Amino acid sequence: MKPGWRNENIAVLAGGLSCEREISLISGKAVFDALTSRGFKVRLVDAIGDFLNELKKENVSFAFLALHGTFGEDGTVQTLLDAVGIRYTGSPAAASHIAFDKSKAQPLFRDAGLTVPSFVILKKAEEARGHDGISFPLVVKPASAGSSVGISIVSEQRGFEAACAEAFRYSDTVLVEQHIRGRELTVGILGGEPLPVVEVIAKRDFYDYEAKYKDSKTRYEVPATLEADSARAVTAAALKAYGLLGCEVMGRADIIWGADQRPYVLEVNTIPGLTGKSLLPKAAKAQGIDFPDLCVRILDLSWQSSLERERPFAVEGRT
Ligand SMILES: Nc1ncnc2c1ncn2[C@@H]1O[C@H](COP(=O)(O)OP(=O)(O)O)[C@@H](O)[C@H]1O
Ligand SMILES: [Mg+2]
Repeated sequence: MKPGWRNENIAVLAGGLSCEREISLISGKAVFDALTSRGFKVRLVDAIGDFLNELKKENVSFAFLALHGTFGEDGTVQTLLDAVGIRYTGSPAAASHIAFDKSKAQPLFRDAGLTVPSFVILKKAEEARGHDGISFPLVVKPASAGSSVGISIVSEQRGFEAACAEAFRYSDTVLVEQHIRGRELTVGILGGEPLPVVEVIAKRDFYDYEAKYKDSKTRYEVPATLEADSARAVTAAALKAYGLLGCEVMGRADIIWGADQRPYVLEVNTIPGLTGKSLLPKAAKAQGIDFPDLCVRILDLSWQSSLERERPFAVEGRT
């Protein structure tokens, strides 16, 4: 791998204004500390206000995106950085945009033959359409949000309207999904290669915000104890979902291994958590890649991807 980026002026972008700001600041600090520990001189920048001008003034040429949620993960910051010629880590703008919007990603997965929970997409003011054909229990979630914010499991009609109202607080589009009983798995992908499958064992109804960041009783098994065939099926589903979206560099697919032995794809995260408790770093560690190594690998892979994206006509066979 070419060491090109090592001479660049690097900023870790974190924070921002999404409802995942708090987690993003922790991810950003972790990445900053890791890169500093490896002797790289980087700056940590909060992605609010006039941060783009600040980057330009400081001649930043490569951004490590530790931003989660709206703006950072949905393709917006990627589009802005493309416009000002600053390279960045992770997936390109278009892939980020589709991956972050579950009302776009889930139909894409389903139509390509992946197993997904049955779903209905609701736009604001359409709550009356209800949950056509999807029986209780069901899951109501904002189409564009992360960290389990605004998600409810609804077991009877009585709670449906309130769950929709809660989800609509975070997104103009809402997904109503069949609730899938099974094991909660996640598959990290680094440079197009799958990392060991992680199982999350939450001591709550589901892997909600508390279980993700606050509950010390949440357990993780890395690698998950799965039959070889099951692990292969889960990993294949994760890779297919990642490829369909056009993701690059890294990602993490959330999958429920259903009681019917099928891998139900819930989503692909393009900027998964990078805190000490996060799942992609746990999976990388199980493969012998410690956190600072992971951050350096992400920079290596992203630099390479950025260069390839800038040479679209270098595809074999084209003149
Ligand atoms: N259809 C479903 N069936 C069962 N549990 C679900 C379903 N959808 C979401 N969940 C639960 O909610 C969590 C968050 O859902 P997910 O779709 O991954 O959204 P987020 O982007 O907020 O992480 C999942 O990890 C799982 O615990
Ligand atoms: Mg998730």
